[in-house]
Amino acid sequence: MTDAAATYLPHDLAGSGAVRVGPGGGPAHLLNQVKHAHRVPPFLAGRVVFRPLSGTLVVVASNLAYHGSDGDYFAEHADTGTWNRHVDRPTLLALIGDVYGQRVLDAGCGAGHYAAALVQCGASVLGLEGSSVLVTHARARLGDRADVIQHDLDTPLDQLDDASFDGVVCALVLHHLRDRPQFLRELFRVLRPGGWLALSTTHPTFDWTHFGDSYFSQEWVELVMRDGKHSIRYQRMSLETIVGELLSVGFVLDRVVESRPDESLRERSQEAYDDLHRHPSLLALRLHRP
Ligand SMILES: C[S@@+](CC[C@H](N)C(=O)[O-])C[C@H]1O[C@@H](n2cnc3c(N)ncnc32)[C@H](O)[C@@H]1O
Repeated sequence: MTDAAATYLPHDLAGSGAVRVGPGGGPAHLLNQVKHAHRVPPFLAGRVVFRPLSGTLVVVASNLAYHGSDGDYFAEHADTGTWNRHVDRPTLLALIGDVYGQRVLDAGCGAGHYAAALVQCGASVLGLEGSSVLVTHARARLGDRADVIQHDLDTPLDQLDDASFDGVVCALVLHHLRDRPQFLRELFRVLRPGGWLALSTTHPTFDWTHFGDSYFSQEWVELVMRDGKHSIRYQRMSLETIVGELLSVGFVLDRVVESRPDESLRERSQEAYDDLHRHPSLLALRLHRP
């Protein structure tokens, strides 16, 4: 772990460090889970797979949504965690701006924090989420103020009509998906012409300094949480890849923000505040469908 990460991650996010998953990467069980999670054919997803060469039994996740206790952990963490509460949400909500009267899709809504904020500002919101645990948390948070549907975002959004949304928020989800081009084409399709997309992901420089190797690496990585029991798996990407994939489906880029914490983090930790103002952690983009 870099000094930068070590300085603030212990406050809420990661403790036992990062695991780079790939040749020469992390522990075998992580290597198995992550490599297989994005390589197996769909009919094997969610099943136990026997690997004759190693003799290891591997459970393949059906997608990289936060299932089981990972979901409960994230739901609790998202309330007050540094990245979610103090960096990502204030930045992306400011980029979204006024949503009064708008129909908004929250793609990968987690425990419903964005949906709740948008509904409060007068939007009508549909949340899609791959984890049944987080769907339950989101429904508990939102009640009848917004609809939440369980859906794997690596599959088409067939239930949604063309041009049926004014805006889409997709916060900290893109890097978990295995078929980003299809997902982005679907977001483009369901947005009306002129509609906005507000999207956040990990900052490539954070991934580079935290996991090492080449800046241009596209490997799947595992970030182990402070408690050592939970982790998030995602694909690191360069800036060129993130922006290039968005532009190639037809989106127009309006704004790029290298997210920094809001003032309220000072009350919790001046050290984390200062560190996150020096070292990038997350990236936020606003685009639109022309
Ligand atoms: C870091 S959380 C962000 C949640 C929410 N957008 C927020 O900012 O509070 C990432 C979310 O992506 C969801 N996710 C990951 N892969 C997914 C998939 N294939 N389909 C649907 N949701 C997925 C996870 O379950 C989790 O809720």
